[in-house]
Amino acid sequence: MDSLEKIAAEVMGCPLCKLARTRKNAVPGEGQLAAKILFIGEAPGRSEDEKGRPFVGAAGKILDDMLAKAGIERSQVFITNVVKCRPPNNRVPEDDEVAACHPYLERQLALVRPRIICILGRTAYSSILGGGSITANRGKIIEKAGQKYFLTIHPAAAIYNRSMLGLLEADLKKLAKEVKKPEGKGKASLEDFM
Ligand code: URA
Ligand code: SF4
Repeated sequence: MDSLEKIAAEVMGCPLCKLARTRKNAVPGEGQLAAKILFIGEAPGRSEDEKGRPFVGAAGKILDDMLAKAGIERSQVFITNVVKCRPPNNRVPEDDEVAACHPYLERQLALVRPRIICILGRTAYSSILGGGSITANRGKIIEKAGQKYFLTIHPAAAIYNRSMLGLLEADLKKLAKEVKKPEGKGKASLEDFM
């Protein structure tokens, strides 16, 4: 049977794309098996590569602040990236790398089965949903093949552009509200008649 631990162990020794040659530590992702929200960023940066954990550098600090403001516990969600190893100089992951790494993400999704997937930024948006501009679509909830997605900007975009902080904060508050809605809303259940 598959498990998050098994996936993490495979990722840590993964040789499947050229990023394996330059990484220090692969970053499988971390969080709850029972997470209602699964966040997908782009790729590990320098701090993540050092520590083997996702979103622990400058972008991670922003994500942590915004999660706290939205009342979302970091320990209650699952956080991962499109590719699990750091691209040299933080360049955008290339198509062959995204393709080689994709099965790990698919397996994580199949195990966690989040109520909603939060797409952080353009790389995740384009590689997972084939999307274009994230700034034009941020704040939207979309549904594809029975899975809900929430679209927002990448926290790193707010490092040098502080006006983005307000947008990210508003978006994550909206996301928090969405996951607090009772599940299966819209369908009558037995309790509705009792
Ligand atoms: N940026 C990302 O996309 N992911 C991380 O884990 C850290 C920074
Ligand atoms: Fe393997 Fe993904 Fe790392 Fe490439 S980025 S080596 S596919 S874990």
